[in-house]
Amino acid sequence: MSETQSTYNYKVVRQFTVMAVIWGIVGMLVGVIIAAQLVWPELNIGFLHFGRLRPLHTNAVIFAFGGCALMGSSYYVVQRTSHVRLFCDKLASFTFWGWQLVILLAAITLPLGITQGKEYAELEWPIDLLIAVVWVSYAIVFFGTIVKRKVSHIYVANWFYGSFILAVALLHIVNSAAIPVTMTKSYSAYAGVQDAMIQWWYGHNAVGFFLTAGFLGMMYYFVPKQAGRPVYSYRLSVVHFWALIFTYMWAGPHHLHYTALPDWTQSVGMVFSLILLAPSWGGMINGIMTLSGAWHKLRDDPILKFLITSLSFYGMSTFEGPMMSIKTVNALSHYTDWTIGHVHSGALGWVAMVSIGTIYYLLPRLFGKSEMYSIKLMTVHFWVATIGVVLYIASMWIAGVMQGLMWRSVNADGTLAYSFVESVKVSYPFWGIRFIGGVLFLAGMLIMAYNMFKTMAGGSTEDAPVLLPAGQHA
Ligand code: HEM
Ligand code: HEM
Repeated sequence: MSETQSTYNYKVVRQFTVMAVIWGIVGMLVGVIIAAQLVWPELNIGFLHFGRLRPLHTNAVIFAFGGCALMGSSYYVVQRTSHVRLFCDKLASFTFWGWQLVILLAAITLPLGITQGKEYAELEWPIDLLIAVVWVSYAIVFFGTIVKRKVSHIYVANWFYGSFILAVALLHIVNSAAIPVTMTKSYSAYAGVQDAMIQWWYGHNAVGFFLTAGFLGMMYYFVPKQAGRPVYSYRLSVVHFWALIFTYMWAGPHHLHYTALPDWTQSVGMVFSLILLAPSWGGMINGIMTLSGAWHKLRDDPILKFLITSLSFYGMSTFEGPMMSIKTVNALSHYTDWTIGHVHSGALGWVAMVSIGTIYYLLPRLFGKSEMYSIKLMTVHFWVATIGVVLYIASMWIAGVMQGLMWRSVNADGTLAYSFVESVKVSYPFWGIRFIGGVLFLAGMLIMAYNMFKTMAGGSTEDAPVLLPAGQHA
């Protein structure tokens, strides 16, 4: 067997994994800056104001940090569980460099105000075309590896990663359809309420597939691996998969309650969002229960601490989401910081924490070390990050409910009890607390980067050999 056939391609996994940490720091730093701008408005300097930096933050954390973590970990998992090297090294390498180019172009165009104005789909059409090419290449590498696998079974983590790859391709291509006017300006192919509906079909499924299904793929591989136990119920994981991907597709209209969207469509979105609680919790329970019989490992294993805490936040945000999709609840929560709290309990508590646990699992294996440079620093990271998330989301919940109640409160004569600016004034202390929470979370990421570079120093970058116990998982 030749060298290329007998080893896993760890190079591309290493590249994506290291960049996930770096982009995580960049994206969260921009998050901390915009959090500071809300507390100290004088920090809105020149064109680097809140309006320009906010989409930079969302794109950097979701697509640069989350994207690199997902692509790197999926390449690792699909190889290990298929017992073959990745399909086409060159194409895999292209997906890495192509994705970094997309990120670079986003970092240049968004602060300049070049945007399609669709949330999470801001990038202009030439970059959208590049994304489509990179993504299709990613799909070819991933599914090409599945096709040439040496074990007949396709492990459930690959089902989740695979659905994430297919759904994101579909969402991106449909929602980004536009008529170009110049290189930096285009108009959506859809008009009016149809445009809004397609945008939030995209937006919600970006949450469902980018921020959820892909990370569940991570969960299904790395939780059992780190716990040293088989997944709690394989049957539940299959039911979880089909129920989740079927239900997510219909829930988007909960982002458009009380708008020009036909009322029945909003109700359908609400009902599907409520149903979504069941598969979401099925997945969470399956992940957490994988630890049954091994709970003691949580005491001194920081990787498991990150993974299991991330599942708890996943459970929390997928309980909160269905509640917020109830129209009467949404009438209170919409436009308020409650939504921002919900977003970050999912984004920081679930997405970032499961990625951090996974990256700590991967780094020593990718650099030929037996463990991370400092286990103590990993534990410090865990506590700093957890306190950071709790400060962030608790402050936003309080601020959000307070804002919602103030805006709807009326005097006996029907006039508003509070002016809008009064609600802004009372929100300041909570924005201050959110800023502190963000600084803590970012500090944890910096500790991680230090630990990562120390682990990499003097490490080997040799690819691991493919061992083939037929019919078994790596
Ligand atoms: C069962 C699962 C979930 C349901 C039913 C759900 C439902 C909702 C609802 C009703 C809103 C508020 C819409 C509005 O008033 O504008 C919302 C916003 C949001 N959720 Fe969730 N959520 C779920 C899980 C999650 C998870 C796990 C994440 C992140 C990882 C997440 C990320 C977001 C984001 C980013 C927004 C803000 C969208 C925007 O307006 O920009 N959600 N969600
Ligand atoms: C240090 C960590 C972070 C800080 C300090 C931070 C801060 C912020 C701030 C201040 C906003 C704007 C809120 C507003 O408009 O009032 C925001 C929005 C947002 N952030 Fe973060 N963030 C952090 C991490 C993350 C991560 C890791 C993700 C995703 C994986 C994320 C996803 C989002 C999203 C999706 C929005 C838009 C929410 C919406 O439109 O409803 N953030 N963030």
